[in-house]
Amino acid sequence: VTTMEEQMYRPNFHYTPKKGWMNDPNGMFYLNGTYHLFFQHTPFQSVPDFSKMHWGHAISKDLIKWEELTPALAYDEKGAIFSGSAVVDKDNTSGFGDGKNVPLVAIFTYHNMKKEQAGEIDAQSQAIAYSLDNGKTWTKYSNNPVLKNPGIKDFRDPKVFWDAKREQWVMGLAAQDRQHFYASKNLKDWTFLSEFGKDVGGHGGVWECPDLFPIKVNGTNEEKWVLIVNINPGGPNGGSAAQYFVGDFDGKTFKMDAIFTKQLEKEKVAWLDWGRDNYASVSFDNVPDNKRIIIGWMSNWDYASQVPTFDWRGSTTIAREIQLIKKGNKYSLINKPVKEINKYISKTIKEKSLKGKGKLALVPTAKIDLTKAIVNFDLKNLQQDTYTFTLSNAVGESLTFGINNSDHYLFLDRTKSGKTDFSEKFASTITKAPLDGNQKEAAFKIILDKTSIEIFYNNGEKVMTELFFPNQPFTELSVSSSQKIELNNLVINQLNI
Ligand code: FRU
Repeated sequence: VTTMEEQMYRPNFHYTPKKGWMNDPNGMFYLNGTYHLFFQHTPFQSVPDFSKMHWGHAISKDLIKWEELTPALAYDEKGAIFSGSAVVDKDNTSGFGDGKNVPLVAIFTYHNMKKEQAGEIDAQSQAIAYSLDNGKTWTKYSNNPVLKNPGIKDFRDPKVFWDAKREQWVMGLAAQDRQHFYASKNLKDWTFLSEFGKDVGGHGGVWECPDLFPIKVNGTNEEKWVLIVNINPGGPNGGSAAQYFVGDFDGKTFKMDAIFTKQLEKEKVAWLDWGRDNYASVSFDNVPDNKRIIIGWMSNWDYASQVPTFDWRGSTTIAREIQLIKKGNKYSLINKPVKEINKYISKTIKEKSLKGKGKLALVPTAKIDLTKAIVNFDLKNLQQDTYTFTLSNAVGESLTFGINNSDHYLFLDRTKSGKTDFSEKFASTITKAPLDGNQKEAAFKIILDKTSIEIFYNNGEKVMTELFFPNQPFTELSVSSSQKIELNNLVINQLNI
């Protein structure tokens, strides 16, 4: 490793494997004060080897600082270990328990490369493994696979949850261009329930990494079910992205809510994140207080294996709590960085307001390290104009983002952000997220690390997550507009992490 690479590009607080490749987060759960994160991992090289995929493993007390453990599952003669989930089997329905620790069961896809290369359709099947030592070590079940391939080439990424009402385990998995649901009493024998999605939502690519869960509409007792479906390619700004559906689940079938169906007629797809680097987002099992915490892989299959890090490649997004809100006749999932990040705040700079025209500096140069910071501000009295925020460095590179209030969209532009030519697709477009008409005000929360920006707009109603690779760190942040700028509640938090 060059120190340059470590210094410049190893994130300060987003999880990266020490060495090797990572993609999707897998099997996340919470148990006894510890969060477990597994992930698609090729430990011995920093590009993926789909015939030798492992589940890497890291743990955390607070979802922010992660400690890497040895990989939990390695490929074997049945195949590579592709994406999947893990559950806390409290009632020992699986029978794996030994009466001491609660059994944990991981459900994953076996991907058999030999079969795939031989053109056999059934290269992917679902299998399980269990842990009896609180997640430290894992044993594969002897009768794998537990769900054979029904003759669908892309048949993977099982996400399992306990459906308390029906007293059954439910597995959702991606079946090429749609979702399949299966049920089981013991995590070993699975029966087909239903399918969903062939004719709705985004279909610009194959469906992957789904996640179905119940969630209360914020501040009410109304319970809805949300189905997240990742899709690659076909994202709103190219390549990989996550979409979601809001509806109901009766133990057999997921049905879209009538209001949400109307919404989709207009919007076509509901995107979880409009940026280019949040893929394979799924949620943790067993989190206290019914919180729904998700983590995504902060990259995009369009260029993931070319990004300019060499000893390792891939990182996670910041952990986010998602909530479902209903405004008028519209449901939306909102994303917020988990509160735990706040305990790393070492210094806060507050400015009541910034007012003026032209270009205004937000960050007092040299006072804040913008490679580990959270910046919050509100824009007031927005005119029909563009408000551009610019992160820049001493060698003339910049990343811009902001709001175009004449054509009504948020944007994020990394075309001049430093190293971009490792892939044609990395900086080929300016990322946009549409807004409903003219905005009077806008609230931003921005999380900055060495190579990533996560923009939470209006309390997380719209999110944009993207990577960048400057040749020197960004040190300045300014805003510009041809109209009068009114920026309130500027709060810049330095993280000590
Ligand atoms: C999504 C994905 C999954 C698959 C895994 C393989 O990024 O393609 O569908 O299980 O990655 O690494």
